Amino acid sequence: MEQELHSLAAEAKAHLEALTEAGQLEDFRIKFLGRKGDFSTIMRQLGTASKEDRPRLGQLANTVKTEIEELFEKKKSSLQSSATTSDDFTKPDLTLPGRRPQTGRLHPVTRVLTEACAIFENLGFSVAEGPDVEQDYYNFEALNIPAHHPARDMHDTFYVSDSILLRTHTSPMQARIMEAQDPPLRVIAPGKVYRCDSDITHTPMFHQVEGFFVDKNVSFADLKGILTVFTEKMFGKKLALRFRPSFFPFTEPSAEVDIACVICEGKGCRVCKKTGWLEILGSGMIDPEVFKMVGYDPEVYSGFAFGLGIERIAMLKYGIDDIRLFYENDLRFLSQF
Ligand code: DAH
Repeated sequence: MEQELHSLAAEAKAHLEALTEAGQLEDFRIKFLGRKGDFSTIMRQLGTASKEDRPRLGQLANTVKTEIEELFEKKKSSLQSSATTSDDFTKPDLTLPGRRPQTGRLHPVTRVLTEACAIFENLGFSVAEGPDVEQDYYNFEALNIPAHHPARDMHDTFYVSDSILLRTHTSPMQARIMEAQDPPLRVIAPGKVYRCDSDITHTPMFHQVEGFFVDKNVSFADLKGILTVFTEKMFGKKLALRFRPSFFPFTEPSAEVDIACVICEGKGCRVCKKTGWLEILGSGMIDPEVFKMVGYDPEVYSGFAFGLGIERIAMLKYGIDDIRLFYENDLRFLSQF
């Protein structure tokens, strides 16, 4: 009997060791530890043992059974904990909400640029694009800014060579288009421009949209009309416009245009520095000298032109106070648009 107990213990241990799934535990328990299991069967035979052997055998049977019970409990908890974790990995939880794929967004500058072009296209303007690396002639000379003209100082130009530069504004497109086409013209020229300047309101590269309209009898009133429609569409509300006399070598008369502050609508706040106004663009009637250089007769034709800064408009539209945020590629900023 002693022999039987020992071999049953060894058999139970080997069985237990071989178990790999929680589902097999109950079969093991019934076979070895159950009321009609192998241990119980042996213990029932204790009565047949001799009087002297009985206590020793009884004790041995209990020790062996307790040991197997303890091993069984251990196995049970290890199989059950690994069962839950492996379930977590293999079975998808169908009640969880789905994960959305990350979607790209348009950069705020791209959005405002596209929107500005669309507004002018709806007003009958066509879109033209020109080179970022420009000739000194188109950037300055053809716009009535000869060499050594003091107006060149304002432009903080990046020169590539004596006669080649990175365009400092989109105005060279006026000269390029007028040189190639006859009036009537209604054109916008969007694109990148470059100036050697960097602080919270300036970046070395920024975007402008140039616009110009040339025909017989074009007047300053036409300029006012077009810009009034543009600002209303761009900012989604009627905003007062203010034309401040200014100077540009390629327009005469020239005006800088302010809109009533988009934040306080003219009452005065931090954004407009208590003035109630925000400058958004430069404009004017195209200078007869510019017409002469492209071969238009200034006695026959007249026209207006304007140039607006896209970053400036985006800052006002979205309440952004540092222009450099546009170019830091921080997704926390960019994904808000
Ligand atoms: N090109 C000017 C600048 O970048 C802006 C400008 C002013 C454009 C007057 C124009 C204009 O077309 O008529 O500072």
